[in-house]
Order: sequence, then C-alpha cells, then structure tokens
Amino acid sequence: MRFDGRVALVSGGANGMGASHARGLAAEGARVVVGDIADADGRALAADLPDALYQHLDVTSEESWQAAIGAAEEAFGPVDVLVNNAGIFHPGGVEDQAPEQFRRMLDVNLMGSFLGMHAVLPGMRGRGRGSVVNISSAAGMTGFAGGIGYGAGKWGVRGMTKAAALDMAGTGVRVNSVHPGVIRTSMGRSVSAELFAHQPVPRIGEPEEVTRMVLFLASDDASYTTGGEFLIDGGQTIGHGRAG
Ligand SMILES: NC(=O)c1ccc[n+]([C@@H]2O[C@H](COP(=O)([O-])OP(=O)(O)OC[C@H]3O[C@@H](n4cnc5c(N)ncnc54)[C@H](O)[C@@H]3O)[C@@H](O)[C@H]2O)c1
Repeated sequence: MRFDGRVALVSGGANGMGASHARGLAAEGARVVVGDIADADGRALAADLPDALYQHLDVTSEESWQAAIGAAEEAFGPVDVLVNNAGIFHPGGVEDQAPEQFRRMLDVNLMGSFLGMHAVLPGMRGRGRGSVVNISSAAGMTGFAGGIGYGAGKWGVRGMTKAAALDMAGTGVRVNSVHPGVIRTSMGRSVSAELFAHQPVPRIGEPEEVTRMVLFLASDDASYTTGGEFLIDGGQTIGHGRAG
C-alpha cells in the first residue's frame, strides 16, 4: 500500500475533510496522528482507525506543534506526511468583518499552516523525504464577496506553499496546495448553494473527492510534483457561464 511504513499527521483531523483524509491515509497503510482541538471527536476517530492516535493540537501554538510531533515520534516514528488541514471560516466583507475575526482566521488558517511546516520540515530535510499538503481553498484562487479574511489567509497559504517548496529544493521534500470548492462538511454547509449551482459540475463536493487528491500528493505517486496548486472545485473558479 502507498503509505506502508509512513507516519502521517493531519491537523484539524477530528471532523470534516480532515477526518476523511485521516481515514484515507490509514486505509492505505499509514500510521496516523489525528491532531485537533475537538478532543472527543478526535479520540473517537483515532479509536476507529487501525494504527492511529489522537493528540490535542492547537495549530496556533508552536508548543502544541512540538508536542504533536513528539507524540508522533514516540508512538510511530518521524512524520513523513503533514496535511495542514485545520481551518475556520467567519463570513464578512471588507466593511463589516470584525477585525478580531479577520485576525483569528489569519492565525488559524495561515499562521497555523506556517507553524506546522516550520515544525516538521527540518526533520523531513534531514531524512531526505517528506510531503506537506496545505489545504487552501477555491477562495485562495479567486475573490469571494463576503470572504475578506478567509480569502486573505487562503491566498497566503497558496503563496507560502510555493515559497516553502523552493526552500526545500533538492531535499526530496515536496510541498503542494489543495484548493477545494464547496465540500459537504459543517463548514461547507454554511455556504449558499448559489455558489455551486452554476458550476460545470453543479453539485456540492464530497470530502472523499478531496481526500483522493490529498493522498496522491502525499504519496510517491506525486514524486515529480512540488509547489503546485490543485483545484477540486467542480470547475467553480474557471470562469463564468454563457453571457446570452
Ligand atoms: N468545506 C468547504 O467547503 C471548504 C472549502 C474549501 C476549503 N476548506 C478548508 O478545508 C479545511 C477543512 O475544512 P472542513 O470543511 O473539513 O471544516 P470542519 O469545520 O468540518 O473541520 C475543521 C476542523 O478543524 C479543527 N480546528 C479548528 N481550529 C483549530 C485549531 N486552532 N487547531 C486545530 N484544529 C482546529 C476543528 O475542530 C475541526 O475538527 C479547512 O482548512 C477549510 O478552510 C473547506
């Protein structure tokens, strides 16, 4: 199997897409660390997977990342795959988003992914292998009304992915970003169906459809792929429908 002998850490892994990624990695042989602040959900999921553990991980805290990596190493060995998936969404436009919400989204969605990479990449460099998959969004590819703070963080994740991929040049470590459209999770359900009704694939996406892309990028199947951005959005961002 693609992840036999590999250790994977999934942030925000207790629910939604993160839980789907954790299940997918485990099904293909990975030993999985589910990291989240939702302790009860995370523990229940880890107990349901063949070779997994739950670790409380607040992605905004450097110490919390060190503790998660330490727990992974102690139980399974060094982390080979990091899925930077934890994220939050507070709707709001440039005039009405509360600055505190904007800051919080940058802290979790952007800073959280930076801290994850900052924590795992030195070890991956030393071992000469590793894959980081940063979960951005369709909102990191284009503008969305009412998504000023969310978009700022997700565009940041996209840019940071390319910078990190370049920083890891020649080391055997790859860093890519994934850009889901509207996906059926608690976050996705809060988005209006208008957003996907006019897509070429006119429906909401399923978490497992994103997981298949995450697993590809995390695995050696993507050995020639780094710094890339991968849309799974039913065509939401490719352009507008017919004018007349
Ligand atoms: N659902 C969508 O439509 C959609 C679309 C594009 C991108 N995304 C992105 O995909 C990722 C997963 O989203 P989802 O839809 O599964 O959301 P979700 O709300 O179902 O799950 C998010 C998980 O992140 C965890 N989390 C929140 N803050 C955290 C923190 N500080 N530290 C650790 N964990 C934390 C939550 O507890 C939760 O388990 C997010 O980065 C999100 O921005 C979602």
